[in-house]
Amino acid sequence: MSMREMLALATVLMLGLSVADAADAPRFGQPITPADLAPWDISIAPDGVGLPPGSGTSAQGAKVYADHGCALCHGEKGSGGPSGPLVGGGPLNSTDREPVKLIGNYWPYATTIFDYTRRAMPWQQPKTLTDDEVYALTAYILALNKIIGENDVINAETLPKVKMPNRDGFISKYPDKH
Ligand code: HEC
Repeated sequence: MSMREMLALATVLMLGLSVADAADAPRFGQPITPADLAPWDISIAPDGVGLPPGSGTSAQGAKVYADHGCALCHGEKGSGGPSGPLVGGGPLNSTDREPVKLIGNYWPYATTIFDYTRRAMPWQQPKTLTDDEVYALTAYILALNKIIGENDVINAETLPKVKMPNRDGFISKYPDKH
């Protein structure tokens, strides 16, 4: 191959490469639309910021609990099943190396019950419950744990005011935020 031919070949190869480069360039896509983001933008802060409209009571929650098969994994009235109980738990103490940490004896914020249940339950069909159903289930779980009364209405105003038994068992890294 002559020098000229080699140069020509090199040029062709380089052109080929730069075309390939363009095809491999990062494709950053498009900004996400608010409609696509909304189903994922569902975090509820400990103080209740982000809670949606809606409400529910323990009696309504008992029905939702039955209709959505929660008992299959958590037992009748949250008493325990293959995925653990939603009720009970003894007092926590600093010497117990394997404490049983449940909603009633461990979780510091009632708002987390709403957030968790809405985003993750039922296990096999997450994000299928309506906000009213999640408020009702939250009321049901709180009432089963005897943290609220049977007839208390749980909504965006009342839920953040529910004081969990272990609320003061945590040291916040951001004390100003609570
Ligand atoms: C197919 C089984 C299954 C069903 C049905 C199910 N869950 Fe769960 N649930 C789980 C599992 C597994 C976990 C634990 C997940 C983990 O720890 O990562 C869990 C955890 C939870 C927790 C957190 C408990 C804790 O102390 O950490 C709540 C609250 C809860 N489920 C509520 C519900 C409600 C309400 C329903 C009905 C709408 C429901 N679950 C239906 C499997 C299930």
